Amino acid sequence: MRPIQIAPSLLSADFARLGEEIKAIEPYANMIHIDVMDGHFVPNLTFGAPVIEKLRLWTTLPFDVHLMISPVDPFLEDFANAGANILTVHPEASVHVYRTLQVIKELGCKAGVALNPGTPLGRIEPLLPVVDLILVMTVNPGFGGQAFLESQLPRIEQVRRLIEGSGREILLEVDGGISSITAPLAINAGADVLVAGNAIFNNGGPAHYEESIQALRGKNG
Ligand code: DX5
Ligand code: ZN
Repeated sequence: MRPIQIAPSLLSADFARLGEEIKAIEPYANMIHIDVMDGHFVPNLTFGAPVIEKLRLWTTLPFDVHLMISPVDPFLEDFANAGANILTVHPEASVHVYRTLQVIKELGCKAGVALNPGTPLGRIEPLLPVVDLILVMTVNPGFGGQAFLESQLPRIEQVRRLIEGSGREILLEVDGGISSITAPLAINAGADVLVAGNAIFNNGGPAHYEESIQALRGKNG
């Protein structure tokens, strides 16, 4: 059985207390998922590299930075310097996405590519030789708390087969609408990493973070 990693998404955390929120989930999380939105590529705004640089002081857990910005290339170096460990881009946000992934690796980060619900799988297939993580979106990007799109389950399975066929070590991350109900579906379809915002941060407050994360791993309490 593959070990399942949980990446809490700060999008649903208390933005005025992000450092404390990271400390509160740190003992139970495998990495921290940070959604960067520009109000242009997606219809919402969050934070940029200076905020991530300050958050870097709060934990040694890997920062899994999901870039929903266009253009993305001019900002890669800033995010790498701010302390990102994984930089994930959407192919629609870069004219030359293979080169973008190469640049991310040259900057010392792992390179991720995200697959929107409407993006054909063929878009990521040529990237297998260079990519370290494939993020399958199970909602349309932009907001937390949306319903999990079950229509994406066969695509998670297809991506899992692509990864196995590549012979490379590539993480399969699933992002959007993950809860204790949908987590097993994503895991059975082939996920290695589950991103979750609403199911962790809006589920009774910090006293419940541990139990909320364990529930995503399929454990009680
Ligand atoms: C959506 C973001 C997600 C979001 C998931 O565009 O990419 O990471 O935080 O939130 P939940 O888990 O609430 O669906
Ligand atoms: Zn995300």
